[in-house]
Amino acid sequence: MTDPMNGPDLKVLVFAASLRAESLNRKLAVLAAGVAEQAGASVDLASMLDFDVPLYDGDLEIAQGIPAGAQELQRRLLASDAFILASPEYNASMPGTIKNLIDWASRFRPQPFDGRHGLLLSASPSLAGGNRGLWALRVPLEHLGARIFPDMFSLAMAHKAFAGEQIADEALRGRFEKNVQAFLSLAEAAKHYPCIKRAWVEFLGEPPGAGDDRVDPVSP
Ligand SMILES: Cc1cc2nc3c(=O)[nH]c(=O)nc-3n(C[C@H](O)[C@H](O)[C@H](O)COP(=O)(O)O)c2cc1C
Repeated sequence: MTDPMNGPDLKVLVFAASLRAESLNRKLAVLAAGVAEQAGASVDLASMLDFDVPLYDGDLEIAQGIPAGAQELQRRLLASDAFILASPEYNASMPGTIKNLIDWASRFRPQPFDGRHGLLLSASPSLAGGNRGLWALRVPLEHLGARIFPDMFSLAMAHKAFAGEQIADEALRGRFEKNVQAFLSLAEAAKHYPCIKRAWVEFLGEPPGAGDDRVDPVSP
């Protein structure tokens, strides 16, 4: 993944959708960032605090424009080829904070999630590891044209799953690392081999090119 002449050629934005200082999802995001760096990618490790936004309000948007936190997310998404998002599960769905941020970011044109490869992770004290929240999170992201990797990693009983900063169980740690590496391989291939990009669009049942028009109305 690293070109000795030009340095890393895959840029990945990594962040967790939790504001908590002791966030388990933040811990998982940091681990994913480490795996990506090991694989030769250039990582931008962000915090939800960087993307602080008010509740979406159409009147506020007209009066003041899109807030600075969403502009920051747009800037960092556009500077990346791919993103890794570790999100808590709240009430069997995604936290309202991340949906609100996605809603603000969706107001930019061009829309910054469109065509970006994404990997979703979760960590929860529960036995399901927050996996239901990721299925909910896929919906707005895929609606916006993000290419969400099929395999998602959910760390169950996350409050007991870490030994220091690492996933304690060796087999689980291996699965996590393989999941992140597989995602990076696809993102890198899609960046360098346009035929793979086309294949993905065809997989969604759309003719090549139509994916670009996923959000904006198609002109007659
Ligand atoms: C409002 C709220 C709702 C929650 N709902 C769920 C849930 O549906 N499923 C689950 O596994 N955990 C749920 N939890 C527990 C979170 O998974 C847990 O607090 C987790 O540590 C949050 O992620 P963080 O450590 O990254 O902040 C909920 C927590 C809160 C505050």
